[in-house]
Amino acid sequence: MESKNVSRRSFMKSAAAVGVAAQAVPLFTARAQGAGRKFKVGLVGCGGRGAGALKQCVEAAKLVGAEVEVLAVADVFKEKAVRVGKLHGVPEAHCFDGFDGYRKILALPVDILLLATAPAFRPLHLEAAVAAGKHVFMEKPVAVDPPGARRVMAAGEVAKQKGLTIVAGTQRRHQEGYLKMAKALQDGLMGTITGGRISWCGGALWVRAREAGQDDAHYLANNWGNFVGMSGDHICEQHVHNIDVANWVIGKPPVSAVGFGGRARRESGDQFDFFSLDLDYGSELHIHSMCRQINGCYGGVWEQFVGTKGTFWGGGKMSTLDGKKLDLPEIKMISSDPYVQEHVDLLNSIIGNKGLNEAQNVATSTLTAIMGRIAAYTGELVRWSDLMEKKDSPFYNMACTPTADDFEKGPVVAPPDDVVAAPGSGEKKKAAKKPAAKKGK
Ligand SMILES: NC(=O)c1ccc[n+]([C@@H]2O[C@H](COP(=O)([O-])OP(=O)(O)OC[C@H]3O[C@@H](n4cnc5c(N)ncnc54)[C@H](O)[C@@H]3O)[C@@H](O)[C@H]2O)c1
Repeated sequence: MESKNVSRRSFMKSAAAVGVAAQAVPLFTARAQGAGRKFKVGLVGCGGRGAGALKQCVEAAKLVGAEVEVLAVADVFKEKAVRVGKLHGVPEAHCFDGFDGYRKILALPVDILLLATAPAFRPLHLEAAVAAGKHVFMEKPVAVDPPGARRVMAAGEVAKQKGLTIVAGTQRRHQEGYLKMAKALQDGLMGTITGGRISWCGGALWVRAREAGQDDAHYLANNWGNFVGMSGDHICEQHVHNIDVANWVIGKPPVSAVGFGGRARRESGDQFDFFSLDLDYGSELHIHSMCRQINGCYGGVWEQFVGTKGTFWGGGKMSTLDGKKLDLPEIKMISSDPYVQEHVDLLNSIIGNKGLNEAQNVATSTLTAIMGRIAAYTGELVRWSDLMEKKDSPFYNMACTPTADDFEKGPVVAPPDDVVAAPGSGEKKKAAKKPAAKKGK
């Protein structure tokens, strides 16, 4: 029987269980003694985020008194690898292309591998990196289906045994306002959480049309943000940030999810463009989760929670019911930019042999998003146990295809555009014709 509410004690206990306490440690410590350390780094996925993460890793090294040498980079597309490689003085021979570029990097003496490809490849790449004994920074989300999320959890455990550091791109966990919020909760200043709501509502993302003569594998790798099998759908790809905050403050994933979604305006691929879900954390604690990618509509990215002593927002805005001013200790960050701070924490963990490992947190939040997506796609109530324990559940092995492994075996076939899940039917159906876009949007 679970406790009635999420008390301070259970937050701390469950937080420690999912590694929150462990990851908070480096954030409160002073600048690490990294002088003289040189890290050899490789990057897989040379798009916007990969290029950014590499730059931020170099910047973080300077902040901790260390140095980064970029040894090799890889992208499915040679020109993207070369473009990013050039910025860091990587010779063209170490700018790899194709779907097996990560293997070529892992054959080199890199200390740290940064993973920033389409999410579908994360479990495969993480497993390989951990097997090769590398420390990892990996972007969220870390899987697109239940088997993938479980693979990441398992690889995370192997990394722990090997003493490897894994930091995830859920950067709110490395951001001052969010850490203040977590501290206030840990200190009991907000009482017990009784409910909340989380949102990532915004406009449509990019569409990358198939180039002349492009095969399905390269089309999918490029237009990945529009295919569920590559991105996990936007509930997974974007909203995972907000879901991660809910799981963090509550200290555990939901027991079940039920809700709905649909495809109103999306122009490419096979995803929905809106979701609305009830996440049931047990013991009468529910979080409403909503996300949308449609132009011309309300936009808002936030998390709000109601406690028995006050209300608080993810970014650190807190108010107590009795109006008393909160007495919180200052949280010292080495960088005010969470995208840099996450690399500071990565390097400090390696330097200090701290074993920071965020694999479980991010895999749990990724799987929570996947649970919500399956609930909306099927119209059914989906339980956490369906994804983690019950091997005979229809959802346990609900894998997206083609799988990451398929891309290295030979040609793959892209799912058809505009054929999407039809809740209640157990099938996929051709989506209705979309209305014209609003003027000026
Ligand atoms: N933490 C954040 O705030 C944040 C922000 C943006 C993106 N992201 C995440 O970062 C990841 C990358 O996003 P992005 O915006 O850089 O996308 P992007 O399309 O700009 O870059 C992805 C790159 O990966 C390459 N790629 C795809 N599959 C590959 C494979 N198997 N091997 C090698 N290269 C491969 C693509 O060619 C592309 O260059 C995604 O998981 C995304 O969700 C996180």
